[in-house]
Amino acid sequence: MEEQVNQIEQQALKAISSAADLHQLEDARVKYLGKKSEFTGLLRSLGSLSPEKRPVMGALINKTKQKLQHALVNRKTVLMNADQQQKIEAAKLDVSLPGKGVKLGRLHPLTQTMHEAKQIFIRLGYEVAEGPEIELDYYNFDGLNIPPHHASRDAFSTLFIDEHLLLRTHTSPVQVRVMEKRKPPLAIVAPGRVYRRDTPDASHSPVFQQLEGFLVDEGITFGDLKGTLTEFTQQMFGRDRKVRFRPSFFPFTEPSAEVDVSCMLCNGKGCRLCKGSGWIEILGSGMIDPNVFKAVGYDPEKYSGFAFGMGIERIHMLKFGVDNIRLYYEDDLRFLEQF
Ligand code: PHE
Repeated sequence: MEEQVNQIEQQALKAISSAADLHQLEDARVKYLGKKSEFTGLLRSLGSLSPEKRPVMGALINKTKQKLQHALVNRKTVLMNADQQQKIEAAKLDVSLPGKGVKLGRLHPLTQTMHEAKQIFIRLGYEVAEGPEIELDYYNFDGLNIPPHHASRDAFSTLFIDEHLLLRTHTSPVQVRVMEKRKPPLAIVAPGRVYRRDTPDASHSPVFQQLEGFLVDEGITFGDLKGTLTEFTQQMFGRDRKVRFRPSFFPFTEPSAEVDVSCMLCNGKGCRLCKGSGWIEILGSGMIDPNVFKAVGYDPEKYSGFAFGMGIERIHMLKFGVDNIRLYYEDDLRFLEQF
């Protein structure tokens, strides 16, 4: 029996060390140490030995079994390392292949322009306020000196929700909301979306963005309006731009002025963009009408102020020569990626 054990040991060790992969190793394990192996058979037959021989043979078989198990584990480690090494070699990187470009996200051009315009006023000491896009007709009209049934309401092509609720047609209602709650001095800019019942074309979109601004204190004059808006226009369009204030009309400002900048395409000579005039309109402004002050409970004898409003799409279009407002709302990356 001893002889038999030694023989199995030799054969098993040979099979284990010559196993070329994990499959062959498993086969060797089953063959030499499995439930149906010769070795297990020997273990079972121990009972038939004499009481003197039994412990001696038992010890030998167990020692051999441990030896074989040890050899199995060692071989398994070797084969697994080789297997892994092979996988690493197979997956080797070709560092000469061109890389995949990482695409960076960016802010929408209107967000960028709104930010830039807002920042100019923030540096001048203005704070930011916002109001609702779904607005009461009182704030959009009445409080801004546009009485019910007055013809000037028509100019705003309003989208109504019901008799008194509408999509705000401009950001000017934020003036009334802020002044109603707070006392002068006030220097505020109010960014936001506005809506008009316009048929979309190259220069009209039913939704667009405005930046409103207003300043109220004692002793504010038209000179303050001119200084502030000249500074804004030149920070936005360049120090070499000329600025012109042209008389206009808004129900909520008196006097009112539209601000023109010398044409950035022809430098004031007259071209297609400025329709030959050399000037381009960029915003509406004026001294806040005493009726607006009365509506919010300010004394128009004590306080004065100016207000202005501009379209952000228009500013971006002029700065970058964009000729179609719809591009801002079509989410075409070929357009958006240019800014
Ligand atoms: N609310 C005006 C518009 O949308 C712009 C404006 C604002 C004019 C403030 C004067 C003062 O056309």
